[in-house]
Amino acid sequence: MRGLFSIDLEPGRARVRQRLLESSAAAHARTGRMPVSMFASDNQRSFWRRLIQPIPAMTDNTNVHVVPTPDGWLAMTETPVQQLIDGDSLRIKRRVEYDDALGKASMMLAHPEHDREAGALVNLAIKAGSSVSITPYSQWLGGYERRPIGTITMKELPYIHSFALTPTKVVVIAPPLRASALSLLWSNAGYIQHFRFRPERATDVFVVDRKTGVVRQLEADPFFFFHTVHAHDDGDDVVVDLCAYEDASLIQALGLPGLGKTPLPASRLSRLRVPARGARASLERLDAGPLEFASVNRGALSGARPSLVFGAEVAAGEQGLRSTVRRVDLRGGAERRFCREHVVYGEPVLVRRPGSGVEDDAALVAVGSDLVRRKAELVVLDARDLSPLATARLPIALPLGFHGSFARA
Ligand SMILES: [Fe+2]
Repeated sequence: MRGLFSIDLEPGRARVRQRLLESSAAAHARTGRMPVSMFASDNQRSFWRRLIQPIPAMTDNTNVHVVPTPDGWLAMTETPVQQLIDGDSLRIKRRVEYDDALGKASMMLAHPEHDREAGALVNLAIKAGSSVSITPYSQWLGGYERRPIGTITMKELPYIHSFALTPTKVVVIAPPLRASALSLLWSNAGYIQHFRFRPERATDVFVVDRKTGVVRQLEADPFFFFHTVHAHDDGDDVVVDLCAYEDASLIQALGLPGLGKTPLPASRLSRLRVPARGARASLERLDAGPLEFASVNRGALSGARPSLVFGAEVAAGEQGLRSTVRRVDLRGGAERRFCREHVVYGEPVLVRRPGSGVEDDAALVAVGSDLVRRKAELVVLDARDLSPLATARLPIALPLGFHGSFARA
């Protein structure tokens, strides 16, 4: 069970706060019996409970991502429940359950896209039943009504962790990691254990017109991904940059005992081109090195395509887990890297200089776990060359987390 942490940065000092999410999943965990569906671990519902409740309640351990809103920080995982968090105390202000025309979703993604022009979040709601529907929707920042954009229907349930947004399109990419929605019935297995990667199948690509809601479907070669990086309209084509894996074997590798001691499958920065006509989308590799948790300076782009991508290379081997922050120049410039011995950094969060239109006029903020000191540190890197500008050594250990956001006080 993971918690939330926040780090306030002021000139010359940093203040860290940490709190376990007081979710009902945390309360269940203290009793030693977990009746709600978790991502990877089994739940422990009794035979009778399974009989009367074939699909278990989904976890409210919203520990995958936090997004700033006018009301507080919206914490989310891949379930219909989100929690609004007070930024000072890190306590749950309220549980957010959506009651609107879109209805009860089986799951919602933990990676909403920010439509800055509209001041809205765009996300996907997925309903799994005898068929599967995937509905991109938008909601005002600070509002809790989801407005559907269009609906995709599929026979099987795909595992989708993130999607892409351009000024005109929503792009939903469904890798061939699929489950039968029926297999979820009466089962105590962790959610992801229902999914199988089917390399003989295509990756389905759906392009939803944000104005009309019209859905177009294409196919691409099979691949797997967790995170899109950026998308843009290129004439009538759509281009999506993402971190692509050859298959979904990373999910099994993350669940194996001895994690960190054996090599992990790595993703590569890749570009999916979705042509305006035809039924095939094509994937090409943009960079040879492993890259995950990647981002671009969207605020400096104003719609143009990025030339710089920042992310982390996380690897494992006999010496254990290690990571390197990377700056990849898509114009062919030299790569820049930053690492420190024994420190494993997670997602580098890009902080743009306000008002600047220069892509690397920014800082990268990354939290690392020092495996020798058994304490965490926060490093601030200059996006121009990844040289360290500041380091805050934190007095506590923090586990390697998933995602976070930066907000100015
Ligand atoms: Fe993620």
